[in-house]
Amino acid sequence: MSSILIIYSTTDGHTKKICQRLCQLVEQQHQVTLISIDDDSNVDLESFDKIILGASIRYGKHHRKVYQFIKRNEQLLDSKPNAFFSVNVVARKPEKNQPETNPYLRKFLKQISWQPKELAVFAGKIDYKKYSFLDRHIIRLIMWITKGPTDPETVVEFTDWKQVEAFGQLISDM
Ligand SMILES: Cc1cc2nc3c(=O)[nH]c(=O)nc-3n(C[C@H](O)[C@H](O)[C@H](O)COP(=O)(O)O)c2cc1C
Repeated sequence: MSSILIIYSTTDGHTKKICQRLCQLVEQQHQVTLISIDDDSNVDLESFDKIILGASIRYGKHHRKVYQFIKRNEQLLDSKPNAFFSVNVVARKPEKNQPETNPYLRKFLKQISWQPKELAVFAGKIDYKKYSFLDRHIIRLIMWITKGPTDPETVVEFTDWKQVEAFGQLISDM
C-alpha cells in the first residue's frame, strides 16, 4: 500500500470530478489524498509516495498555478512516481484524445522542463448555462467551427470514463 496525492486545477469542477473517480479506484489498494492546487501549501508533498497532477484547459492553456506548482516542485516530482493529465474538449475527437496526439498536452510539455512519468488526456464537459455570456458565445462559436454541440441548453460530458478507469489502474500499479 502506498500513499498517493492527487492534485487538481479546475475552473468549473470537472477535473475535480475526474479526480474523485480516480480516488474511488485507487483507494481500494492505496491511501489517497485529494487536494486543489490552491491548497498545496497545506500538505507535505515529500510525505507521499506518488504524485498525480490533473489540470483543465481554458482558452488554450492550463492555469498559471499549474506552471508555478511544477516549477516549485520539479525536483520533488522527479524523485517519485508521478503523472500528469490534461482535461479539454478537443480530446472529444478520437484523433486528439491521446497524450501523443492532443495539441494542448504536446504544447504544454514543450513549455515545462518536468517530464511526467505517465501522461493522460481526458475529454471534458460543456455546460453552457454555467458560463458567462461572453464565454458561452465564444465556446459556442468554437464548437460550431469544430462541429460540436451549439445548443445553449447543452450539458454534455465527453469524458470516456473507461479511459479514466484505465488511468486509475495505471497509477495504482506504477
Ligand atoms: C471559458 C472556457 C474556455 C475553454 N477553452 C478551451 C480550449 O481552449 N480548448 C479546449 O479544448 N477546451 C476548452 N474549454 C473546455 C474545458 O476544458 C472543459 O469544459 C473542461 O471540462 C473544464 O474542466 P474544469 O471544469 O475542470 O475547469 C473551455 C471551457 C470554458 C468554459
